[in-house]
Amino acid sequence: MLKSDGPNCHPNPRKPCSNRGVVSFACAALLAVAITMPFSGAAAPGAAEYGRGAASSDGIGRFYHGREIARVMGFEGASWLDRPEREREERPDRLVEELRIEPGMTIADVGAGSGYLSRRLAPLVAPGKVYAVDVQPQMIDLLKDLAREPGMGNIVPWQDAVDDTKLPAASLDLAVMVDVYHELAYPAEVVESLVRALKPGGRLVFVEYRAEDPAVPIKALHKMTAAQVRLEMRDFPLRFERDSESLPLQHLIVFRKN
Ligand SMILES: C[S@@+](CC[C@H](N)C(=O)[O-])C[C@H]1O[C@@H](n2cnc3c(N)ncnc32)[C@H](O)[C@@H]1O
Repeated sequence: MLKSDGPNCHPNPRKPCSNRGVVSFACAALLAVAITMPFSGAAAPGAAEYGRGAASSDGIGRFYHGREIARVMGFEGASWLDRPEREREERPDRLVEELRIEPGMTIADVGAGSGYLSRRLAPLVAPGKVYAVDVQPQMIDLLKDLAREPGMGNIVPWQDAVDDTKLPAASLDLAVMVDVYHELAYPAEVVESLVRALKPGGRLVFVEYRAEDPAVPIKALHKMTAAQVRLEMRDFPLRFERDSESLPLQHLIVFRKN
């Protein structure tokens, strides 16, 4: 039933994004939830900014602050997330440096996927821990396998809901999303839940492919401009701290909880 190159929700432009072929059950289920769920988060800051429109081939027809939300990348794309050339293309070593990790911190890697970032953060944060959060149970299974590897015991696989990370209140020093935010079906509600989970002064970090740069070889809905990210955070009790351009393809945008 599964295609090795993933369903019709893939950020790589070389992978077609159409309704032809076999659609992943998990991705289809998430899409159905995103489209049919009522806008439950009336109380979430920014919830008034949702809208609907025609869905493009890799979008869900739901808009936030004028941006169409991308389809979730299905779990079949895990091998693309783990591709060896990603090290050279995206420089995760620089990303980790930019995150300024200290031992003992509690971190959430939200939309952890197969653990690309969690596996790099776990040794640095010990004796602290990394919540490896994902909405797809198949990703959680991969994260459980990872947490069983030597030195990875402080990874806590954490399945969340499409509109709520369910992380404990005031528990996090840092929450980071690598190539995730653009595909959150309920960005306002998820960010609200992250703000609640951060300690005062805790950081929320977005890593998103640069939409300002046409040379970044990623589908349009899977890229974001720094201005759009800042616009979408404007209703939350967060202050913008910095936007680092030290990564080859992505912005790294840091906010701090007031
Ligand atoms: C493109 S992948 C990136 C995975 C990982 N951050 C990486 O860079 O390798 C996006 C991930 O976000 C997850 N995701 C989408 N919506 C989510 C939500 N509401 N909560 C948690 N994870 C979510 C997807 O299941 C997928 O694993």
